[in-house]
Amino acid sequence: MSKKDLLSIYDLKKEEISTLLREAFKLKSEKKYLDVFKGKVLGMIFEKPSTRTRVAFSTAMIQLGGSPISLEPENLQLKRGESIHDAAVVLSGYLSGLVIRTFKHYDTEEFAKYSTIPVINALSDIEHPCQSLADIMTIMEIYKVKVVENLKEVKIVYIGDGNNVANSLLAISAVLGLNFTLISPHQCLPKKDMLDKAFEYASSSGAVIRITSDISEIKNADVIYTDVWISMGYENEMENRKRILMPYQVNKELLKKASSKCIVLHCLPAVRGDEITAEVMNKYGYSIFTQAENRLHTQKAILLHFL
Ligand code: CP
Ligand code: NVA
Repeated sequence: MSKKDLLSIYDLKKEEISTLLREAFKLKSEKKYLDVFKGKVLGMIFEKPSTRTRVAFSTAMIQLGGSPISLEPENLQLKRGESIHDAAVVLSGYLSGLVIRTFKHYDTEEFAKYSTIPVINALSDIEHPCQSLADIMTIMEIYKVKVVENLKEVKIVYIGDGNNVANSLLAISAVLGLNFTLISPHQCLPKKDMLDKAFEYASSSGAVIRITSDISEIKNADVIYTDVWISMGYENEMENRKRILMPYQVNKELLKKASSKCIVLHCLPAVRGDEITAEVMNKYGYSIFTQAENRLHTQKAILLHFL
């Protein structure tokens, strides 16, 4: 039986993303519990902390009639050197799907290679595909955009560290043909292969992608998105990153440069006083917490699609 994994946004075609978003909106509005996954078990391996992704996947699985189990890395034999190959083959015999958050993206690929069940990337150092689906859902919901084809009218700006979250937002914008600007100091831009891939997709999707270090490019932004400056696994770069990224903080002054009707998004967890001020967090709590809630609806749609 063939299976499909979600390791990167590029694993999804535009039509599949549209279908997932339609399904997520339907699930959100119907608020029904289903029993489609009766007897199915979802394994979850989180090498790094998680609140939203872990709880949203667990809740989604339960509300769809299945059971999630948390496979704590320190209690797996992987910790003692068992190979990913052996773990993946064995777990495939028990589970219906595997959600995995890793330090190294390569490990998600290894799990996917040797598993016969779908593997879903719950964040790696390179991508966070589940997050960007909820991000797009939130923009559509708040701007009342019914179909992704009409989303290009909305200017989306990501400002800050060119990290995993930025990479997936860039990727989904490139696939869907959106108007996306990434503003980052040159030391923190996404890696060249991520940029090249996005421009390659944009050339066929019609996406307008701008990559810049110039903060004034925030002008007319309808959506301003930021994320932490020190991602999990990069703690040793803290001081240097804070110094470089401080001019890119989302604060009241910066927002004056954007559209007066703009919304602010943040994947959370946030560090108030670093990438975003407490004042901006308070003012834009509605959009940011709607975005967090939408993780549940999009992850339900992902489970229904992939399992
Ligand atoms: N945004 C996000 O993935 O949050 P968690 O780290 O809490 O899962
Ligand atoms: N970029 C952040 C996202 C957390 C959800 C990190 O990787 O830590």
